[in-house]
Amino acid sequence: MQRKKPIGIFDSGVGGLSVLIEIKKLLPKENLVFLADQKNVPYGLKTQKQLEKITENITRFLLGHDIKMLVIACNTATCYSLSHLRKTFSIPIIGVVPAIKPAAKKTQKGKIAVMSTPATAKSSYLKKLVKDHAPTSKVLRIGCHGLEDHVEELNYQAIRKTLPKFAKRIENFGADVLVLGCTHYPLIKDEIKKNLNPKIKVIDSGKAVAQRVKFILNQNKISSKEKMYEIYYTTSDTAKFSKVASTLLDTEIKAQKAVF
Ligand code: DGL
Repeated sequence: MQRKKPIGIFDSGVGGLSVLIEIKKLLPKENLVFLADQKNVPYGLKTQKQLEKITENITRFLLGHDIKMLVIACNTATCYSLSHLRKTFSIPIIGVVPAIKPAAKKTQKGKIAVMSTPATAKSSYLKKLVKDHAPTSKVLRIGCHGLEDHVEELNYQAIRKTLPKFAKRIENFGADVLVLGCTHYPLIKDEIKKNLNPKIKVIDSGKAVAQRVKFILNQNKISSKEKMYEIYYTTSDTAKFSKVASTLLDTEIKAQKAVF
C-alpha cells in the first residue's frame, strides 16, 4: 500500500535534520528513512558530476526501502543534481533551495544576504533564483567555507569563532534579510542571530519544504495514516552520527551504517 511507504530524506550530514524536524512537525504520521552521507561531506566542495553520481547512488539505496517520495534536504545537492534525479527516477522529488522568493518579499532595503556553501554561492541555480524572484534587490552571496563541518561536530567553539567574519560582511553590506541557504545553518540559528543586528530577519526553507511535501502527498493521495517507524542511516561513523542526531532531535537515535 502506497500510503504506508516511507519518505526518503538525505543530506551530506546532520544538516538535513533541520528539514526532517519540520516534516515531523507538520506530518507526524509519515514513516521516514533519513540518510546522512557523511562519507562525502562536505558537498559544498564537490563538482556537478560528482554530486550527480553520489545522489543517484543514494536515491537507489533509498528506493531499496521502497520510498514513495524523495526529499533532497540539501541546498547544494538540489542546485546541482535535482534535474538529473528527476530525469532518472519517477517518484516525486522535492528539493531545498535558498529562500530568495520570501526574502524578496520581506526586504525593505532591497538588500538580501545569503549564507550557503561555496558551491551553492557560485551556482547558476542561485543566480537564476535571484534573477527570477529578486530582480530589483541587491544580493550578497557568502560561501561559508567550513561552517558545515563545525555543525557536523557540534563544535560551538569553532562555530563562535567562525561566525563573526560572515556577520561583519552582512552588516557592512547593509542587508535587512539573511537567507540561511544551507540546511546545516538553521541548526545554529541562535548563534548566527547573536552576531547580527536584531533588526535583520533570518529565514530558511525548512517549513516551506514541509508544506510542499504535504501538498504533494495530498495531491497523490499517498499521505500516511499511521506512524510506524523512522530509520536513520549514515555512510560513515554510526556512533558519531547517533550522538549528534540525538542531541539535535532531543531523543535517542540509533543509526545504522548504509553500505552501497
Ligand atoms: N547541508 C548542505 C546544504 O544545504 C550541504 C553541506 C555540505 O555538505 O557542504 O547545502
